Amino acid sequence: MLFVEQKFNIPDLKGISKKNIEEHLKLYAGYVKHANLILEKIPEYRGYTKEDAFAPYAVSEIQRRFSFEFNGMRNHEVYFRSLEGEPKALSQESSLAKALGQEWGSFDAWLAEFKATALTRGIGWAMLYWDPSSKQLLNAWVDEQHLGQLQNCALILGLDMWEHSFVFDYQPSGKKNYVEDFFANLNWGVIEKNFVEATK
Ligand SMILES: [Fe+2]
Repeated sequence: MLFVEQKFNIPDLKGISKKNIEEHLKLYAGYVKHANLILEKIPEYRGYTKEDAFAPYAVSEIQRRFSFEFNGMRNHEVYFRSLEGEPKALSQESSLAKALGQEWGSFDAWLAEFKATALTRGIGWAMLYWDPSSKQLLNAWVDEQHLGQLQNCALILGLDMWEHSFVFDYQPSGKKNYVEDFFANLNWGVIEKNFVEATK
């Protein structure tokens, strides 16, 4: 079964232009397209013969790239979904606010750590996960789309720190402002739901 490209209803955002979002959505569509391409191509190579020396390399190479495309697709879906609707603060009565407070002492302490993670040198993602095994929230950094994803953890909040997500509007030197504006634009209602779903 092939993956379906999701549609997002993203309002005008603070700092992040419509043009940047449009271009970014094209990149997201590319992840969906390539994840599907790999799913379609692998069966074509299954019947390779001994004479076709290239085929084993081809199939192993596209297989190992699958996690890059798949996680690129899923990471962006969490990111764009979190910017839908309108900016909304985290309800201090929510189960997520309580869990953040329990783990980090306060929401502000968690936010400071998460922002520091986001400003890690290099391209990737700042992530907030829920680990269902130990029942705790975890901050993490993911290189590219797939290196550093936490196994069996649910992604609650994902902040895209690839340069394509901010350089058009902020220039490389404006990375910190992009992070601040992301939180100004964030609909915490979506993030609260992600957490409720993950902890059901
Ligand atoms: Fe991106």
